[in-house]
Amino acid sequence: MPLRLTVLGTGYLGTAQAACLASLGFEVLGVDTDPGRIDALNGGTVPFHEPDLQPLLRSGLRAGRLRFTTNYARAAAFGDVHFICVGTPQQRDSNRADLSQLNGCVATLAPLLADRECLVVGKCTVPVGTAGLLSERLSLLAPGIELAWCPEFLREGHAVSDTLRPDRIVVGLQSSQSSQSSQSSRSSQSSRAGQAEAILREVHAEQIAAGAPFLVTDLATAELVKVAANAFLATKISFINAMAEVCEAAHGDVHLLAQALGHDPRIGPAGLRPGLGFGGGCLPKDIRAFMARADELGVDQALSFLREVDAINMRRRARMVDLARELVGGGFDGAKVGVLGVAFKPDSDDIRDSPALDVAKTIHDLGAAVTVYDPVAMPQARKAHPELGYAESAVDAVRDADVVLLLTEWAEFRDADPERLGMVTAKRNIVDGRNALDPARWRAASWHYRALGRP
Ligand SMILES: NC(=O)c1ccc[n+]([C@@H]2O[C@H](COP(=O)([O-])OP(=O)(O)OC[C@H]3O[C@@H](n4cnc5c(N)ncnc54)[C@H](O)[C@@H]3O)[C@@H](O)[C@H]2O)c1
Repeated sequence: MPLRLTVLGTGYLGTAQAACLASLGFEVLGVDTDPGRIDALNGGTVPFHEPDLQPLLRSGLRAGRLRFTTNYARAAAFGDVHFICVGTPQQRDSNRADLSQLNGCVATLAPLLADRECLVVGKCTVPVGTAGLLSERLSLLAPGIELAWCPEFLREGHAVSDTLRPDRIVVGLQSSQSSQSSQSSRSSQSSRAGQAEAILREVHAEQIAAGAPFLVTDLATAELVKVAANAFLATKISFINAMAEVCEAAHGDVHLLAQALGHDPRIGPAGLRPGLGFGGGCLPKDIRAFMARADELGVDQALSFLREVDAINMRRRARMVDLARELVGGGFDGAKVGVLGVAFKPDSDDIRDSPALDVAKTIHDLGAAVTVYDPVAMPQARKAHPELGYAESAVDAVRDADVVLLLTEWAEFRDADPERLGMVTAKRNIVDGRNALDPARWRAASWHYRALGRP
């Protein structure tokens, strides 16, 4: 009998989890508090853009292995394992993580599991120590529940392949080391942790067989792996963007610098693409929450460099605005700006903390008429920023523009024909915010080409 799994929270992470787990042969019930989202998913529609996810969702529904509900009681009765995938955004008024979705989910689920033995697996990104506190709370509400923490490393735009073929599986289990506990409670804890590990090995059997490393840690280390990974990635991106700042002052070329650095096997080329910096629903909020948690733990100095990582990242947005202003003659009043891309990255419609949208809005606020186009993120952007102009195509976005800004490196924009776009713009000025275009090609078509960190 295959394991029955629930996935609580069907956003970017949870929907990919649910559809992928069903494709691996498990019976899966997805749960969300948003009835509109649940109706869409039951009707075979993914309510956001993620390549390859919709066909997987539909085949799970057709096979009868995948369903969605808002009903927690149904989920509690159904699942042998409950994966928690709710959001952990940044608090509105601080750098800390907002754990209200997580706490709400556990408060609803736990009493319904009071008489059952089952495994609850946290997949959200949380401040270190959260899982330990949840586990204490769960042991009071539902003593038969075992808690594990398995952080998720998927990248939006690659969610299906990353979930089906993870580069590692990290499993945080409750430790039986506490000196407070008796010998018998330590051995019962250790056997429950052993069962949890066996269940998670079963869930991930295919990926393990395909060679994915399966790393077992304590709860705190598992929580830390995720935020440490994001801190490292953010640092690498801001490092090359700091080099871009230096190149701008010293008339160097950060694109060539990055290529040359990347050949060093100790450094590697991944993540060394200079540009407008990181955004989205993870990296910015995760490094801020990590700093806030380090502060609470009394080790704020250990992560003080992340403040600079964040500041470098935000300065790239300001630099992009400055370059655009230079190209329209020093002021935005009366200028027309065509913006290509508003999603925080290509192959996603996620606009959470999108550098592209931030730049577009800033330039609009400074007096320019800004028209944007994105292959998939238009509805989200229009809802968040109705004050911007919205075009039906890249050509329409840049029509009559004094300057064109490439802010999200969709393939459609990377491959754009400079001649064709140049026929509709007022002037042939472009700022390549992602170092995604071939400067020689654009200059050959008489464009004044500028990019972050390049002459
Ligand atoms: N998006 C990513 O690429 C990614 C990658 C790795 C890890 N993560 C982490 O995964 C978690 C989820 O991120 P996301 O981007 O999918 O968030 P999201 O905002 O897209 O989705 C959260 C979902 O949870 C639902 N929800 C809220 N409260 C609920 C409750 N009590 N019960 C059931 N559902 C509830 C919301 O309606 C929403 O559909 C976060 O901790 C995030 O940091 C995200």
